[in-house]
Amino acid sequence: MINVAVLGYGTVGSGIVEVIMTNKELIEARMGDSIQVKHILDLRKFPGDPYEALVTDDYNVIVNDPEVNIVCEAMGGTKPAYDFTRRALEAGKSVCTSNKAVVAEFGPELMKIAKENNCNYLFEASVGGGIPIIRPLNQSLTPEKVESITGILNGTTNFILTKMEREGSDFADVLKEAQAKGYAEADPTADIEGHDAARKIAILSSIAYGKTVDFKTVHTEGITKISSEDFAYAKKAGATIKLFGKSSDVDGKVYALVAPFMIFSEHPLYAVNDVFNGILVHGNTLNDVMFYGSGAGKLPTASAVVSDIIEAAKNLGNPLYCGWQEGEITLSDLADAKRKFFVRTKKDAKAVEEAFGKVCFIDGGIAGECGFITEVMSEKEIKAAAEKVEAVSVIRVE
Ligand code: HSE
Repeated sequence: MINVAVLGYGTVGSGIVEVIMTNKELIEARMGDSIQVKHILDLRKFPGDPYEALVTDDYNVIVNDPEVNIVCEAMGGTKPAYDFTRRALEAGKSVCTSNKAVVAEFGPELMKIAKENNCNYLFEASVGGGIPIIRPLNQSLTPEKVESITGILNGTTNFILTKMEREGSDFADVLKEAQAKGYAEADPTADIEGHDAARKIAILSSIAYGKTVDFKTVHTEGITKISSEDFAYAKKAGATIKLFGKSSDVDGKVYALVAPFMIFSEHPLYAVNDVFNGILVHGNTLNDVMFYGSGAGKLPTASAVVSDIIEAAKNLGNPLYCGWQEGEITLSDLADAKRKFFVRTKKDAKAVEEAFGKVCFIDGGIAGECGFITEVMSEKEIKAAAEKVEAVSVIRVE
């Protein structure tokens, strides 16, 4: 019998219980054992909830229960989630989590504790919601030298950008809708300023390139400066704007950033809309492989946690391989990274060509300004040229 405890009975936590109860028979058949949810930890009471009797507000009941083999942490934030996770692992209980804040900040330490105690710390749901990406990186893609990862990694911002593009909706209204649907973080600043995506690209990069990429060192820009005018130009150019988390390993130099990108219809991530996420991985012999699915929301995220429960149950006493090993990667300076850029300015074409040389103008139909796409230039060069024309908007192009 696998006894599970769920920490946090919010959106994801209640989803975990729902997925287990809905698919109990097939989960047990695939796991080769029976499963029950034995405890739910939450400070709140849930009168009338079918699992009300399982709810406790005392973590000691869970961590001291020798029958509990797997703990699911769906609390969010690092306090007290990190401490509870550590204590569960030290007690030899595997932990499955959706909490990217804890994974990004304490992942290597917690995996080490898991290994020392013959259990597992698994975090499939921490990136891409319901999309399988952590396990593929750790299992299916192990023959590859991963050269780059490009992802739409935040459901809330993709939902907002899609609505802005299609309906010209107001940013604040769409954000409220995303919150109501349970996509956004408790503090949605983490979504719209790109911090959530930064944690996710740091987690993926740490697994792909083998050592910790500290999310705090990832250059991060959000979507709060993206306007309907930017979308007007994008539309005229046959493009759209997406928030990317991106990293690459070029001859041992690792680059990582989170920023809005203008992309064209040929781009594999162009059609990833609404709350969906997409992750494009490039391996040196495999070439491109893309993962697509629901990037946020109760049941998709819970399904990913339950997939970890099954994996942990099949590997009791057997710590699994993870590509994310000890040590840190120092990210290379983005200043020399080269690409094209979309720029808007109130200066005229002559001033633009003086600052940028040859560019490709787009008629966005907006009076008193012009928009254009540059030739390939470095981040350092674009910064200087954009200052010369007092650019209203600068967006990377891929
Ligand atoms: N707030 C996150 C998002 C939840 O919108 O993608 C899933 O990690």
